This record gives sequence, C-alpha cells and structure tokens, in this order.
Amino acid sequence: MNKEYKRTLITSALPYANGPVHIGHLAGVYVPADIYARYKRLNGEEVLFIGGSDEHGVPITIKAKAEGVTPQDIVDRYHNIIKDSFEQLGITFDVYGRTTSETHRKTASDFFRKLYEKGEFIEKTSEQLYDAEANQFLADRYVTGTCPHCGNEHAYGDQCEVCGTSLNATDLINPRSAITGNTPILKETSHWYLPLDKWEPRLRQWILEDHKEWRSNVYGQCKSWLDMGLQPRAVSRDLDWGIPVPVEGAEGKVLYVWFDAPIGYISNTIDCVGDDWEKWWKDSDTRMIHFIGKDNIVFHCIVFPAMLMADGTYNLPDNVPANEFLNLEDNKISTSRNYAVWLHEYLQELPGRQDELRYVLTANAPETKDNNFTWGDFQQRVNSELVAILGNFINRAVVLTHKYFDGTVPAAGALEEVDKKLIDEFATLKQEMTAQLEEFKFRDALRTAMDMARAGNKYLQETEPWKVAKTDMERTATILNIALQASANLAIAFEPFLPFMSARLIKMLGMGDITWSMLGNFDLLQAGGHIGKAELLFEKVEDETVLFQQEKLRKTVEENKLAAWKPEAVKENVEYDDFAKLDIRVGKVLECINVPKSKKLLQFKIDDGMGGRTILSGIAAYYKPEDLIGKEVCFIANFPPRKMMGRESMGMILSAVNADGSLTVIGPQGEVRPGATVG
Ligand code: MF3
Ligand code: ZN
Repeated sequence: MNKEYKRTLITSALPYANGPVHIGHLAGVYVPADIYARYKRLNGEEVLFIGGSDEHGVPITIKAKAEGVTPQDIVDRYHNIIKDSFEQLGITFDVYGRTTSETHRKTASDFFRKLYEKGEFIEKTSEQLYDAEANQFLADRYVTGTCPHCGNEHAYGDQCEVCGTSLNATDLINPRSAITGNTPILKETSHWYLPLDKWEPRLRQWILEDHKEWRSNVYGQCKSWLDMGLQPRAVSRDLDWGIPVPVEGAEGKVLYVWFDAPIGYISNTIDCVGDDWEKWWKDSDTRMIHFIGKDNIVFHCIVFPAMLMADGTYNLPDNVPANEFLNLEDNKISTSRNYAVWLHEYLQELPGRQDELRYVLTANAPETKDNNFTWGDFQQRVNSELVAILGNFINRAVVLTHKYFDGTVPAAGALEEVDKKLIDEFATLKQEMTAQLEEFKFRDALRTAMDMARAGNKYLQETEPWKVAKTDMERTATILNIALQASANLAIAFEPFLPFMSARLIKMLGMGDITWSMLGNFDLLQAGGHIGKAELLFEKVEDETVLFQQEKLRKTVEENKLAAWKPEAVKENVEYDDFAKLDIRVGKVLECINVPKSKKLLQFKIDDGMGGRTILSGIAAYYKPEDLIGKEVCFIANFPPRKMMGRESMGMILSAVNADGSLTVIGPQGEVRPGATVG
C-alpha cells in the first residue's frame, strides 16, 4: 500500500437504478464505505466519497419493458428514491451523480475515443446470440444459461453470479432468451474488444505481487481468473439504451454498461470538484479505494484497471475491500422477487432508527463470508447491546451528574488505580480500533468501540458512585468526571458507525467539534461546564415490530409462490380400463368432526346411499368441520379400509391442490343422489 498518500478517493459501487436499495447493498457497500469516509474525515484526512446511480444496462431496460414505460422513467424514479434514502441513512457522499448525465456521456465517450485512437481496441465481427422473435441481440442479462465453470443454470450472458466468473454470452451452455424464453440463433455483428490478455502480465504483477494485503476473497478470485487466462472482452453492445459508441460507423451500438459505469466514478468526481478532478485520479499521492460487493470483483480488479492501464494516465485502486453477500432470514435477497428489507420502507416503518440499522448491518457484516440478517437478531442486538450497554452507560453517567451535581461537570480529584485502568483501556482500545478501521475490518472496529462502552459500565459497577455519594462527594465527583469523559470519548469512537447518536450525545454533553485525535483523552469536557438533560439514546425494539416485519417477508414468499405456480406436468397415458377400476362415488356429508389430538384429520360420516361410511381426510388445516356438513363430495369407494389415529377410514375424499398448497374438496355441480357413480 502507498503509505505516503495525501488524500483518499473512496468509491462505492453505483447501484443499478432498476429498484430501490436494500439491506444487502447497505451491508455490502454503502455502510462500510461511509464508516471509512467518516473515519478518514474525523482523522483530518482529505477524502472524496463518490456515489451515484448506474442507469444503463439491461436490468433497466428489462424493468422498463415489464412496466410498459421508458428506461428513462425507470431511472428517474429509482435514482430519486435511492438518493433520498441514502441521505436519510446518513451516507455522506460528497456527490451522488447519475450515468445518464451529460457530464458522464461526455466523459465516457472521451474515454472510449482516446482508447480507440490509441489503437487499444480490436474490432471484430463474429456470430453472437440473437432472438429472432424479439429481433434483438442477446447479451448480458438478456440471456441466461448454464455457467461453463460452475454449472449454475442461471448464469447471465456477461457473468455468473454464483462463481463470479465473467463470461461472454456465447460461453453459456443451453442459452435461453430472457425476453421470449427462446433458444437463440447466431447472427453476425461487429464489436470493439478490449484485449484483457494484453494486460494480463501487468495485472498479475500488480495484484498477485504488489497487493498481497488485499482481502483473501478478493485476492483469491483474481488469482483464479488470472490463472485461467484472460480473453478479449467486448465493450460495445447492439442495444438502444446506453451511451452511443462515439466513432464513425457505430450506428445502433452503445457502450457496454460495465465499460461506462466505472467511468461514472470519474464523471461524478468531475461533477463534484470540477477542474480539480485530475488530482483525485492521477496524482501519485492520491489513493483510490473501491467499496463493492463480491459480484463486482472482476470488473473492479481486472476490467476497469485494464481500461485505466490502456489509457495510461490514471492511478489504479490501492485496495478493493469487497464484501460477500447478506442473506435475509436464511434466504437469498432478491430485487426481482421483491424479497428484501428495502431501505426506503425501513426508514418509514422504523422512523428514527437509522443508527440501529447501521449498527446491526456492521456488527453482522459479510466481510469474510456470506452472512444472515434476521429480525430476531436485529431486536436482540438493539436491545441487549445498544440499549443495555451503550445507552445504559451514557444514561447513568448523565443522570447521576444531574442528581449529584445539578448537571455541572464535576472536577476530578486525585486518580485511583481503577480510574487509571479505564483511561489506559480506552487508549489501548483506540489503537486497536484505528488499526481495524485502516484495515477495513469494520465489524471488529465496531466491537472494539462497544468494548469501550462495556469498560465504562464495568467502571461504574466497580466504583458505585451512587453508594460513594452517601459519604464522599469528592470521590463521587472524580468518578462522574471520568464517566462523563468516557461518554465524550464514545461520541467520537461511534461517530463513523452511529452518526445520529453521536450528534445527539455531542449536543447533550456540550462538546464542540470532534476529531479522531481527541479520542482517548480524558479532558474532553471542562469541569464546571453544563450538560443537557439525559435523553434516551436508544429504545427497545418491541416484539410486535419484529413480528410485523417477519410477517411481511412471509407474505412476499407466499406471493412469489403463487406467481410462480404452474400446473404439474400431465402423467403418462393410461388405458380406460385402468381408470374404470377406480370406483368413484358421490356422497353427502352427514357429520364431520376434528379427530381429537390430530391437527390434520377430519372424520366424516358420509351418506353413500348404501347405509353410510366413515372416511378420514387430512384437510383439517383448510376447513372448519361445520362448513362441510350437508355438502356433496366425491370419494373413492373401493380402497381397502385403512387405520389412521386408531380409526378406520373407508375411502378417500377427492380434493384439488391449490397454487398456495391448500386443498379444496371436489363435489358435483348439480344435485346428485348419494351413491351415484362418477366416471
Ligand atoms: N450497477 C452495478 C451493480 O449493481 C455496479 C456498478 S459499479 C460501477 O452490480 F463501477 F460500475 F460503477
Ligand atoms: Zn459459475
């Protein structure tokens, strides 16, 4: 790593504006990036934190088509939702741009043209996948098929999201059009290719030799692609949504979204700082950090760096701290299946709880492996960590100061061992935390900050100012001075993670501006200064909040099941004679009761026109017994008797299986005498 740097350019993956952002995006990219940016700023370093929407690419055109609106309508809608919700969560982008901006069109076009003029592309005509019904070439997310590397059957035309490998659409086994479901045909077209193979030796040296400090998931993925050998990659597409390829003879062709999107980081820098932008991209004392999710590794570690190398005047990223994925209640988060906790909905449904979300997503961040978010865990962490440890400590320090000293910061007298121990512990924890933040270990850093609060609680437990106050006000003054100084330290330590809490605490304690260098000092509050009334910094999450959220997810799963329902395939043909062996009759329900001790079984007394019979049926979950009495049903009359729960059943009542898995009893549409044969 370049230790001599003067400033840090922090980029966060530009989310596709085809849907709102969810907790997976937040945990993977935006919360860690914001923690890092806030920490660096507190540390007095020059940083620029870049965000923005990725508004080209197939995910957007697919969504537009599904809704019958234009791609521009889609990106306008989601850009605004995303931007607002990031702001409300306290993500401190210095700029949040969009790749449909004029600045971006120009920047990306210039970038392409420069490489084109330098002869960095290969122009090649080849056969590509084409959907003859939709009249369209199939690239990227317009085509799915089996990944030749890992066998995932839902790989996209440009990437397999399971193994992360970047693909060409023609690599897919059994390709299918995502538009019509058809098997594509091949059709000739010409495109510009960036020869990644040309940059392979330099990429190997740069990543495998010079950046052994990268996270092992990132380093390992890069190594395996480099070891497989790199191929030229098409950087243009036959599509009508995107930035037109800015050279002669390129009608109907646009830049590949993964060519234009990372250039968005540059365009957004230009929108933010104007002419000064080059120092953020080209000065050797600037370092660049890309925050991304693991599915973006190949583009940020191989493709974009190769583009930057081909240009020849840019810095390469110094680190790419990619996170793994976050699951939700043990299932994969999915925008298309609406299975997610959406940020804009969270902000509405749990107002004022931004820090709680930031906390849980960081405490449980998928830094080294996929992780799982559950509402139960959310509640547990808020109640037993934020409320019971952090909130509790600060509350006690402030309340006791009001009780014994009228809200005035008391002066500390001579320090005892226990006081010095706390001060030392804070100094040690600060060192640990700083190292963890520098190494992008935000989970650990948060745990260390929490250890400071734990140490504070332990200090109050050991010193018991509420007892000492009965006999020794001078000692009480020292203890509460230390406890308040510790609280002031917490306002600094937690600022990158819990900025809303931190701001309230700063106000409550009457602190001025804070810096990272102040952390560890125990003279942050002047004796004699006034502090505000104790406010609860965190509130418990109630069971009903958790139940509401769990129910919401359960409903989504249910709706998805219904939407995905298809009739079962028709069984093999049978002869009429086989059918005729079954004796199906109409019967009338005379009695119906729940079988005691069974959740499933109903017991019927059926008028079968032949003296009646008992039938047991496993439909108790779907019917109240009284609703079936008097109804006509069809049943199989010639099954041999069968014992269930110690009772004998003489046949089977017929029912249909609904899309949601429930059962509906089948009966005649007109009046039929009990005992009549069905056939
Ligand atoms: N839109 C992409 C995704 O969501 C990320 C683009 S990152 C950038 O996976 F580098 F291209 F901007
Ligand atoms: Zn794969």
